[in-house]
Amino acid sequence: MKRAIISDIHGNFEALTVVMADIAARGVESIFCLGDIIGYGPNPVDCLDTVRKKCQRTILGNHDQAALFDPDGFNPLALQAIYWTRAQIENGPGSDEDFDQRWGFLGDLPPRFLDGEFLFVHGSPREPTNEYVFPEDSYDDRKMTALFGRFERYCFQGHTHIPGIFFEDRTFMSPEESDQTDSDDTRLGRPRTYTIQLPDSRAMINVGSVGQPRDGNPRSCYVILDTEERTVMYVRLEYDVQKTRQKIYAIEDLDNMLGDRLLTGR
Ligand SMILES: [Fe+2]
Repeated sequence: MKRAIISDIHGNFEALTVVMADIAARGVESIFCLGDIIGYGPNPVDCLDTVRKKCQRTILGNHDQAALFDPDGFNPLALQAIYWTRAQIENGPGSDEDFDQRWGFLGDLPPRFLDGEFLFVHGSPREPTNEYVFPEDSYDDRKMTALFGRFERYCFQGHTHIPGIFFEDRTFMSPEESDQTDSDDTRLGRPRTYTIQLPDSRAMINVGSVGQPRDGNPRSCYVILDTEERTVMYVRLEYDVQKTRQKIYAIEDLDNMLGDRLLTGR
C-alpha cells in the first residue's frame, strides 16, 4: 500500500497544487495531512478546501488550532498572519454552508491518528500539536528516550519543516543522506526523490513541509510511505515560488519576510 503524507502547507497554494499533481501521478491509495494547512501563506481557503476534499485523514496543527482559538506562544509576525488567516476563512468565498464546512472541518481535526504500527501527529508523540523535534535533538538522550517511549513502531510528524528520520540509535538521517536518490536529474521541474528504508526498530519520520521548507532547500517536500517495500520516499518539487512571494507582498498583514524565506527555504 502506498500512502502520500503531506504537512505544513501554510496557505501556499502553488506548492500544494504541484504536490497534489505529483501525488496523483504516483498511484497512491490515500493521502494523509499532518496539519498546519493554514497560517503564513496567502491562500488559506484554497488550501483548506483542497485538503478537505483530497485527504483521507488530517491531523490538527498548531496554526490550525490558532485559527480556531486564541493563539498561544506565537511571535507577532505569526500572530498577525493568523488573525488575517482567520478573517479569510470567516469572509471566504462561498455560502454560509461553505463557511460552516471549513470551520467544522478545522474544529474536528484530531491531534493524533493511529493506524496499526503507524502513528500520525503534527508535532511529537508526546505533545502531538506543539512539541518540536529538531535534528539536533537526536543528541538529547533524555528527550529522545521520552519520545521513543511514546509510540510502538513508527511515528510520522511535521511541525519543524525539516525533513528526515530519527532512528532509535539516536541518529538522524536527512533525505539527502539516502543512498537511493535520483537527485542527479536536475532538469527544471523534475522531482527529486530520496528513498530511505524503514528500520526494524522504532523511528520518527519528519515528512518536511509542502509550503514553507526550512532545511535550506526551497523545493516543496512530502513523502510516500510504501508499506510493502517498507520504504519512505521523500519527494522534492519545484513550484512557482515567485508567484507565492508576490501574493504575500501584496497582502499588508503578511510580512514580506514570509515571502522572502520561501526563496531560500529558511
Ligand atoms: Fe508549521
